[in-house]
Amino acid sequence: MNLQVKDGWIEVIAGSMYAGKTEELLRRVRRIQFAKKKVLIFKPKIDNRYSSNEVVSHDNGRIESIDIETTEEIYTHCAPELPYAIAIDEVQFLGPEVIDVCENLADKGVRVIVAGLDKNFRGEPFGIMPELLARAEFVTKLDAICQVCGAPATRTQRLINGEPAHYNDPIIKVGAKEQYEARCRHCHVVLEKPNGKK
Ligand code: TMP
Ligand code: MG
Ligand code: ZN
Repeated sequence: MNLQVKDGWIEVIAGSMYAGKTEELLRRVRRIQFAKKKVLIFKPKIDNRYSSNEVVSHDNGRIESIDIETTEEIYTHCAPELPYAIAIDEVQFLGPEVIDVCENLADKGVRVIVAGLDKNFRGEPFGIMPELLARAEFVTKLDAICQVCGAPATRTQRLINGEPAHYNDPIIKVGAKEQYEARCRHCHVVLEKPNGKK
């Protein structure tokens, strides 16, 4: 019997905007760096809100990152030698290929840490997040504070000129404080779906 403990698993950090997902990702990355282990940090190129080639949290924590256009690029950076860990911020923007990349790297002994929005502005699961949440060994769900009532916020309100966005608005819209608020279930508003369902 082999009792040796092996590295390699998937950690997901999920939640609404302003819940501290990127802060938590950066905290884990810094601990790995303190331990002098190699960690590669990726983020999809689409998210250029604060900076390119850096992961930046809303309260301005930052760390150097590799901006990727395709998930394949993660493999390129993991050769010839696998890192101890990889971290991906804003993972909700990546396509389904990222699932296999995370699984393969974790199988090979890499600690995979990903952070992303669990729900889009409609309050529905965001892209590949449900699948990643199900496959992960470790899940951390963070909440923010509802900007209307002060309760724990688990959703993200999109505002267009100060008004709630319509259900049919595009899912992807990069932005921060000017367009998005953290809200609880009860204060979250989506203008109606065409079939009348909320
Ligand atoms: P954050 O989780 O680091 O705060 O960033 C979330 C990003 O996702 C931000 O650029 C806004 C964007 N976003 C969408 O594209 N669609 C959505 O439905 C929501 C809620 C956010
Ligand atoms: Mg973030
Ligand atoms: Zn509220």
